[in-house]
Amino acid sequence: MIRSNYFENSVSRETLSKLSKYNDFLLENNKKMALISKNTEKIAVERHYEDSAQIISYLDKKDKIILDIGSGAGLPGIILDIIKKDHNLEFSTHLVDKSPKKVKFLKSANSFLDLDLKIHNSDVKTMMKKNFTTLVSRAFKPMKEFFEIIINSNIRFEKIILMKGEKFMDEYIEAKKYFEINCECYDSVTNPSSKLFVIKGVSRI
Ligand SMILES: C[S@@+](CC[C@H](N)C(=O)[O-])C[C@H]1O[C@@H](n2cnc3c(N)ncnc32)[C@H](O)[C@@H]1O
Repeated sequence: MIRSNYFENSVSRETLSKLSKYNDFLLENNKKMALISKNTEKIAVERHYEDSAQIISYLDKKDKIILDIGSGAGLPGIILDIIKKDHNLEFSTHLVDKSPKKVKFLKSANSFLDLDLKIHNSDVKTMMKKNFTTLVSRAFKPMKEFFEIIINSNIRFEKIILMKGEKFMDEYIEAKKYFEINCECYDSVTNPSSKLFVIKGVSRI
């Protein structure tokens, strides 16, 4: 079983066991393909799972259809889907990734963990489904490029939650040259140099 004060205090034993199952499955598959960096395997609980889970604090009942863009190993989408019940949330979780290998992993994880994820193997720019309430993304693209992609692809959303690393301020300043951004910025609980941007609207200047 994974050890985590954060999860032990916020989710049921059943959920903790599912998170552990995901961890085992991820580490096993990481031997064959690059899902997470090898040197984060031993610290995956805090670095990847707790980091992803903090998004749940910014979701509420209005977040009904979530899309995780550039999901990779399922971060943050799978973690959010596993813990949603413990936070009285009922959203459906869509994951999109353009890599067929990552998508194969995501589909096997979906059945291995008995989840109901909707998995799209596509470039986000050409996704068929366009209607979501909420977009989430971690380690995907710089902010300006992210907004270009979302606006050009006509994806509809009410909220975006972006997880940003230490270059967050440079990315924000660059994006503000091209976009009007209605957002709030919060400290990451797992990394003092990272931020979470909760964006309620974005439009070209
Ligand atoms: C650096 S990984 C991050 C994975 C995961 N979100 C995480 O936090 O570990 C970026 C992922 O985005 C995917 N990706 C890159 N460009 C994409 C695009 N245009 N459409 C869909 N997926 C894309 C890649 O295949 C890769 O799995």
